[in-house]
Amino acid sequence: MQILIIGSGGREHTLCWKLAQSSYNNQLYITPGNAGTAQFGTNLPIAANDVNGIVAACITHHITMVVVGPEEPLVLGIVDLLAANELTTHIQVIGPPKFAAQLEGSKSFAKAFMHKHNIPTAAYKEFSKTTFDEGMDYIKNHTLPIVLKADGLAGGKGVIICGTHIEAMAEFEMMIMYSKFGDAGNKVVIEQFLDGQEFSVFAITDGKHYKILPIAKDYKKIGIGDTGLNTGGMGAVSPVPFVTDALYSKALQQIIIPTIKAFEAENMEYKGFVFFGLIDVNGEPMVIEYNCRLGDPETEVVLPRLNNDLLEIFIKLGEGNLDTVTIETASEYAATIVVASGGYPSYYNVGYTVKGLTTANDEATTVFVSGAVQEGDNVVTTSGRVLAITSLASTITGAVTKSKAALHNVSFEEMYYRTDIGYEFE
Ligand code: AMP
Ligand code: GLY
Repeated sequence: MQILIIGSGGREHTLCWKLAQSSYNNQLYITPGNAGTAQFGTNLPIAANDVNGIVAACITHHITMVVVGPEEPLVLGIVDLLAANELTTHIQVIGPPKFAAQLEGSKSFAKAFMHKHNIPTAAYKEFSKTTFDEGMDYIKNHTLPIVLKADGLAGGKGVIICGTHIEAMAEFEMMIMYSKFGDAGNKVVIEQFLDGQEFSVFAITDGKHYKILPIAKDYKKIGIGDTGLNTGGMGAVSPVPFVTDALYSKALQQIIIPTIKAFEAENMEYKGFVFFGLIDVNGEPMVIEYNCRLGDPETEVVLPRLNNDLLEIFIKLGEGNLDTVTIETASEYAATIVVASGGYPSYYNVGYTVKGLTTANDEATTVFVSGAVQEGDNVVTTSGRVLAITSLASTITGAVTKSKAALHNVSFEEMYYRTDIGYEFE
């Protein structure tokens, strides 16, 4: 089987690592990949958002399955493009079509979907240029804090939580009138603030049946104790101790099952991963966001705890037989610590050589590459998040300790990581 994986992060390295363990024969291609994915397959120099280039690569390399890592190609319609081309229409794609990908690509679409299908989420209203004045009035009368969300994809930066009305009005004006987030902010969702602990549930669906993967929590803030700017994620743990059976069961009945049923009711032909970003509000789970893909760095703790053959799950998904899969989860805890370039998520330098990578792996610990490429004999940093070091152990603290020990073997200039991943579970 010739499989093409789209993306270049730690999530894609983890997908390659997991697929390489499959008992089904497979050959992996990655667009564009990184130094980690290169250990398992052939990196092709095609950007993840170059959807036409990816279709062409699928033809050249006789690809039979495509696994989409990030959201952008999905929102751009890679699934529809592959289906529409007679040379690629036979390819099985893990990821939803463009219409369904709006669940991540448009906050307004996602909110309307949840509203229509009675799925618990924050109360909201949406505004655009033509309703700007009403939006300002709405903000003035809103309880604090106020959550503003740019409608479209904004690289994880489009959500602003405002503590005062003045700040909210200024941000709203910047988004609508001064295009702070480009076209992504042409529409703005103004939302009730939800107070609680967040967690992530990943499901995989063939459009009718679904299976739930291990639950995870990521650490979004750059600083110790969840302070400072939001990032793509500085670490993750799985499972999540505060997600009790009662909370999980409510999430299943009130959110996950209704969402999968709604996919069918809306003829979305959703075949792929669903990422439910949930929050526990006094024992009641609510949806913060939907993503149409796996999370990063959550994948780095979810897949290491999955005992199934992932490719077998994908094959069953393609056949519409996901109901015949039994998910097997490791009883151990997993933790991953992201090692970033100093200065991330603001300005940071790249091009530094990563030392000690080969000595950092052992039986309980795996170093996934998030942002570094092979240049001759060296592995060189290319982005804000550089590595994700995952360990398994019988406790979260044990897993974090193992990752920290491995961390001491790797180094690059200006490297930064949070020393407190899993702190609330000690
Ligand atoms: P999103 O891009 O929708 O995931 O939002 C990014 C982050 O903003 C979330 O992970 C939450 O931490 C926070 N957030 C988003 N919506 C709300 C809300 N209604 N109440 C509280 N926090 C929120
Ligand atoms: N770690 C959050 C995300 O992948 O969106």
